[in-house]
Amino acid sequence: MFSTLGSVLISDPVDACCSELLVRHGIPVTTKYKLSKEELIKELQNHEGLIVRSETKVVNDVFASCPKLRVVGRAGTGVDNIDLQAATRKGVIVLNTPGGNSISACELTCALISSLARNVPQAVQSLKEGRWDRKLYSGFELSGKTLAVLGMGRIGREVTRRMQAYGMRVIAFDPLLTCEIANQIGVEKLTLDEIWPIADYITVHTPLIPQTRNLINATTLAKCKKGIRIINVARGGIVDEEALLNALKSDHCAGAALDVFIEEPPKNPVTLELIAHPKVIATPHLGASTEEAQQRVAEEIAQQFLALSGKSTEYA
Ligand code: NAD
Ligand code: MLT
Repeated sequence: MFSTLGSVLISDPVDACCSELLVRHGIPVTTKYKLSKEELIKELQNHEGLIVRSETKVVNDVFASCPKLRVVGRAGTGVDNIDLQAATRKGVIVLNTPGGNSISACELTCALISSLARNVPQAVQSLKEGRWDRKLYSGFELSGKTLAVLGMGRIGREVTRRMQAYGMRVIAFDPLLTCEIANQIGVEKLTLDEIWPIADYITVHTPLIPQTRNLINATTLAKCKKGIRIINVARGGIVDEEALLNALKSDHCAGAALDVFIEEPPKNPVTLELIAHPKVIATPHLGASTEEAQQRVAEEIAQQFLALSGKSTEYA
């Protein structure tokens, strides 16, 4: 715990309840968005705390050049945009809000799975453009189909529960999933090699780590059934975008729903072609973008800052 925490910079859009809570407890807050690295470093000469979402990249240079900085908080699940090793070297505490947006990310995943099955966005667009294409957009029932959940953590489990209510059989791979938990939640715990040939839909809910980078790639896609559908609301890079595009072009993959990309916002030609593919439903990293999730993560990160300053007992 800090004796006191000086002022805090909020450098990405975070719900206003975050700054309100800090200010109410006597911690001054400055809000400045879209700072370049140099501007961020200059601004942080005056602050002990920094709160970010996804846009601000808290890289090594920031830690190396901001001696006053004591704590960085992310109003979100992962800490992918914060250099943890650099933070550790400088003794800066890094906080996040795991779980605050899980339900929102889960609900988007479920919406995308049903949209994939019924071609919802494509049919809507077609009708708006004046066509009445009932045959073209005929889809498939989810009931009786097999959903593979790779990563049975917070979001994977919430997705499982909801898609089981649709009548889907859920199979899963997660190195930390025990047989006991698998039984409790009604999923079949399988190896990846058992999963590829039997899944109708694969949804990934892992962090992006060396073991999960390109988990869905050309080789694994080739082991899947013709007609496989892929969903990624976790992190860009878990699905190899070029391999997915090739599988869609050859009709081996029947559809994909993507909320996250290797580069955000996407600029490279492969990602742009993937997004434009008619069988792809793409959203601009909206998993956590609900009023409820944003209020929850904003309040949680503020409470953690207050606890560090000895101003709240909630997280102490
Ligand atoms: P979590 O930590 O609760 O669960 C992740 C699970 O992945 C863990 O159970 C872990 O054991 C498992 N895992 C690790 N390595 C694995 C591997 N090699 N194969 C299979 N499973 C593996 O995380 P969560 O809160 O459920 O979040 C899941 C992902 O969703 C994260 O990448 C998170 O950053 C992302 N996320 C995205 C959005 C969005 O806006 N799109 C919102 C929230 C979270
Ligand atoms: C997260 O890590 O929480 C999500 O990716 C959502 C966000 O960008 O905040």
